[in-house]
Amino acid sequence: MREHVNDFYVQQAKREGYRSRAAFKLIEINKRDRLIVQGMTVVDLGATPGGWSQIAAGLVGSSGHVYAIDLLPMAPLRNVTFIQGSIDDDDNVMQQLRTATGTRGVDLVISDISPNISGIGLVDQARVMALAERTLEITASYLKPGGNLLVKVFQGQGFEAFLRSMRALFAEVVTRKPEASRGRSNEIYLLGKRRRAVAAAAAPALPLSSK
Ligand SMILES: C[S@@+](CC[C@H](N)C(=O)[O-])C[C@H]1O[C@@H](n2cnc3c(N)ncnc32)[C@H](O)[C@@H]1O
Repeated sequence: MREHVNDFYVQQAKREGYRSRAAFKLIEINKRDRLIVQGMTVVDLGATPGGWSQIAAGLVGSSGHVYAIDLLPMAPLRNVTFIQGSIDDDDNVMQQLRTATGTRGVDLVISDISPNISGIGLVDQARVMALAERTLEITASYLKPGGNLLVKVFQGQGFEAFLRSMRALFAEVVTRKPEASRGRSNEIYLLGKRRRAVAAAAAPALPLSSK
């Protein structure tokens, strides 16, 4: 199943000129949630090879902008400022983001960030959740009140705690599992909607919705 889904989307990405199969995940989520519109400022974490940045840059148009960060190099894209380095590097990489965005408020953070998968379940789970926690920290310091966050996580250890942190920062949190993600069993996207002006003290214990 995994092979089949992967293969289909890889071929489709080639045909349509997208840099990654992941592009289809963002296209599908955006179709449903209308996250990205013209004029927006978007931050894309874990952006290489650039499928998500490509989609986001096209949608925000010339009146908007995308700031993309990745450990690995990324070929240039129109309307995208790329910063190479780790999202954990506060002094250098995040400082560059701060300087680049200047007084522009960030409307949306998208993060498809993942570590190199070791194949050791618990290790990979811990790494993915650590990157998600870091994404949330960055989001908390850049995102405008009312803005949204789309972040990849794995369901497993640390997921519930992360969800509580998301709920403290956003008025609503929902799950998204796009078609192109079907072959990747525990991968899921969390969408935080409408960043609160002030983080809630304790997150409400509500059931998680995919609506
Ligand atoms: C699944 S890929 C992203 C694909 C991308 N969304 C696209 O559509 O082309 C995950 C990326 O996360 C990056 N990454 C992993 N750890 C990182 C870190 N600490 N800082 C920045 N990027 C990181 C990897 O280098 C990799 O390129």
